[in-house]
Amino acid sequence: MINLKDKRILVTGATGGIGKEIVSNCLSLGAKVFAIGRNIQKLSELKGSKNLVIVKCDVTISEEVDSLLGEVDCLDGVVHCVGKIYPFPIKYITGKHIQKVYSVNTESIITLTSKLFQRKIIANKASLIFISSISVQHPYMGGALYVSSKAAIEAFSKSVALEFAHQGIRSNCIAPALIQTDIYEQTKKAYTPEQWEKIVSQYPLGLGKPEDVASLTVFLLSDLSLWMTGVTLPLDGGLLLNTTR
Ligand SMILES: NC(=O)c1ccc[n+]([C@@H]2O[C@H](COP(=O)([O-])OP(=O)(O)OC[C@H]3O[C@@H](n4cnc5c(N)ncnc54)[C@H](OP(=O)(O)O)[C@@H]3O)[C@@H](O)[C@H]2O)c1
Repeated sequence: MINLKDKRILVTGATGGIGKEIVSNCLSLGAKVFAIGRNIQKLSELKGSKNLVIVKCDVTISEEVDSLLGEVDCLDGVVHCVGKIYPFPIKYITGKHIQKVYSVNTESIITLTSKLFQRKIIANKASLIFISSISVQHPYMGGALYVSSKAAIEAFSKSVALEFAHQGIRSNCIAPALIQTDIYEQTKKAYTPEQWEKIVSQYPLGLGKPEDVASLTVFLLSDLSLWMTGVTLPLDGGLLLNTTR
């Protein structure tokens, strides 16, 4: 039975489709949750609980991250759900485009993680979880920036796993395929209905839901996964079974 009682967990991207579900699952399993987001309206819509602390923070703004660090206790878990999708063809990419995607998907996550360790906010035996994407293994047309920004995070997570294993700290990635949230709706818009139908037909178990990601996340946050570190777990409804590439 998964139990997160008395664990203190920080969730970035807490107002997003996946983040919201993770916050709600962690609270119902007894954790104290620090929910991080940019939009105070969306943050205040998260279900009220005495164990929920909402913190407004744009993770790309250094001063806001520093003030966030002043508001969190010692953490037993960190879940990085923050993310942005930005389909763009390779031949038109400039530094500005790279910055737009990497500042959110990569740089903000690496710098926040580094600051949490610097300030000794991460407890021994804590669990760090980075939400990557199946597109690292199964790329899509126009996804170069998004896919490479996530690949960097998978490599970063392995380095965290290695550097902090002596404290019993573990670091893992979850790589979901299509999950029905806003990002999914944006992805859908880039395809014709026929192309979309073909994409959906590649999923033996159908498309995913935020609760599918939340279930795996709470397992990785719990003491049931104390011996798992440095891995990326695909969560794809069987999509990779149909990969011909
Ligand atoms: N949905 C999928 O199909 C899918 C598949 C694979 C991987 N993923 C990954 O899963 C994660 C969550 O995705 P989702 O579907 O839940 O996306 P979502 O609903 O669009 O949520 C994204 C979250 O990131 C936050 N965010 C964006 N920029 C930020 C910034 N500068 N500072 C602070 N917060 C910021 C958003 O806050 P605002 O509300 O303020 O914008 C929102 O809470 C992402 O990393 C995504 O890449 C999603």
